[in-house]
Amino acid sequence: MKVSIIGGGGLVGSCAGFALQAGKIVRHIALVDVNQELCEGQALDLLHGASLLADQVITSGGTEQVADSDVVVITAGLRRKPEESRLDLINRNVALFRNILADMKKHGVRKDAIVFVVSNPVDVLTYLAIRELGLPASQVIGLGTVLDTTRLRSMLAQRIQVQPTQVQVTILGEHGDSMVPIWSNAQIAGLPLDKFPGVNQALIAEVEKKTRGSGAEVIKKKGGAGFAVGVSIADVVHAIALDQQRIMPVSSLQNGAFGLRDVAISVPTVVGRKGVLGVVEVDLWPKEKVALQKSGNVLRETIEKVL
Ligand code: 2OP
Repeated sequence: MKVSIIGGGGLVGSCAGFALQAGKIVRHIALVDVNQELCEGQALDLLHGASLLADQVITSGGTEQVADSDVVVITAGLRRKPEESRLDLINRNVALFRNILADMKKHGVRKDAIVFVVSNPVDVLTYLAIRELGLPASQVIGLGTVLDTTRLRSMLAQRIQVQPTQVQVTILGEHGDSMVPIWSNAQIAGLPLDKFPGVNQALIAEVEKKTRGSGAEVIKKKGGAGFAVGVSIADVVHAIALDQQRIMPVSSLQNGAFGLRDVAISVPTVVGRKGVLGVVEVDLWPKEKVALQKSGNVLRETIEKVL
């Protein structure tokens, strides 16, 4: 499988490239970036480690690499300042994103390609990509709240001293201020979170607050996310590459699930080689359902304003 990463010279794109290389599943990693020198440098750095990892093709260059790609990951875009919300970024990034989509259309994209949007605000830009690329909506997805979900799981695990891979809690909604942690189904090793030793409402609220602020915190401390967003991207790409049909909180166009319509937003989504294979409308607490619909309204308002 060939995966192109538009913005592959940048922090997010190059970390995604490294996560895919370390994952050893995809065959070809193609870095695409307007900054050719930087892009070549990232590809060279990846190539140098190849003999210790896997037999993969690693290339760098322009958007022409996208034409025969099975998956096109779009990470290019300006990063927000710590005090900015992801939606504040919208005006600066929509114009840039529209150019990227035009460039992709100029070079052509495979009819069965999956376009995977990471650039922020990811839900709005995923909606834009669906509208402008002419691919079936099921083949255009966004990273959505996959990163928020791993942040919450990992920090909750550290806080209550359990293993992060045993924490099951998912965030749905906007990858942004209106994200919705789904505590109603949260578990640790298959056991109910709210009955777990040491867990109480104050601790849950503390970890939720830290998760919501994680993006801004990482930007403030190191300029922006890299490792966690890179492995989040790779996890979704691997679900596509292996047709795993795993349920993941990726962002995709909704047509009625949870009362959400005509908006790209994260709900439990079955992800496979064909992209979105379906959504799972689990029963949520009433307050979670209300919050999810509010999140959808926030995104709809933005779409109406800027697209
Ligand atoms: C974050 O939350 C990059 O939006 C991403 O760090």
